[in-house]
Amino acid sequence: MSIPITLDRLSKTFQTGGTKNQVLKDITLKLRSGESIAIVGTSGSGKSTLLSIIGTLDRPTSGSFFLGERDVSRMKTGELSEVRFNDIGFIFQQYHLVASLTVLENVLSPLLMRKVDFNKKERAVSLLERVGLKDHLHKLPSQLSGGQQQRVAIARALINHPAWILADEPTGNLDTGTGETILSLLLELNEEAGCGLIIVTHDMQLAKKMDRQIQIQDGEIISDERRTTV
Ligand SMILES: Nc1ncnc2c1ncn2[C@@H]1O[C@H](COP(=O)(O)OP(=O)(O)OP(=O)(O)O)[C@@H](O)[C@H]1O
Ligand SMILES: [Mg+2]
Repeated sequence: MSIPITLDRLSKTFQTGGTKNQVLKDITLKLRSGESIAIVGTSGSGKSTLLSIIGTLDRPTSGSFFLGERDVSRMKTGELSEVRFNDIGFIFQQYHLVASLTVLENVLSPLLMRKVDFNKKERAVSLLERVGLKDHLHKLPSQLSGGQQQRVAIARALINHPAWILADEPTGNLDTGTGETILSLLLELNEEAGCGLIIVTHDMQLAKKMDRQIQIQDGEIISDERRTTV
């Protein structure tokens, strides 16, 4: 469950037509398991690209990426999807719930056709209770508010006990109050479950609630600070 992340001189270049765009430049980082980390930076600085690589949804162009002892940057596609399934829970700004499935079915959806060593339904129901949705198990996403839909997405991300929760602007579609509640919930779950938490956000106030703030500009880390506990 405890798996540190190590990025060593990781770069990403996108090629569109004849033009090359280097979006991440020699990123070197060590993220301790269990840490809560905010990635901040202006639009286009490379935050989502970095999160997608850490989440194994994209690959670096050069450099390496280790999850624990495993060199993820050199894995084959099949191995990558296993890593994603076993170790990563992703939360998106747009929730990405399946509209035709109930709340409970959405939370169970990553486990479809998978064998796991715990009771799937018990786990899904207890996670939904934990995020405050026990009275909504059989509703469709369209019958829920934005904040409630994001709670479903959080429960779904946690279903397989991931080592890391990655969230790309998870509060971006929510009003300030609901956004704060969702962030507090993520931080509580980060403590309770012992999983690491990486959140991409534009909001410095939210970022300051995390253990560590990493600022990216033009694909480079320009600051990396730990929260000072008073
Ligand atoms: N699949 C892609 N193909 C080509 N260029 C891409 C691709 N994905 C991202 N980019 C480019 O990489 C740069 C960084 O994009 P990225 O989405 O990582 O920024 P961001 O920091 O998340 O921005 P925002 O705050 O607006 O979400 C941008 O210039 C973008 O156009
Ligand atoms: Mg982005």
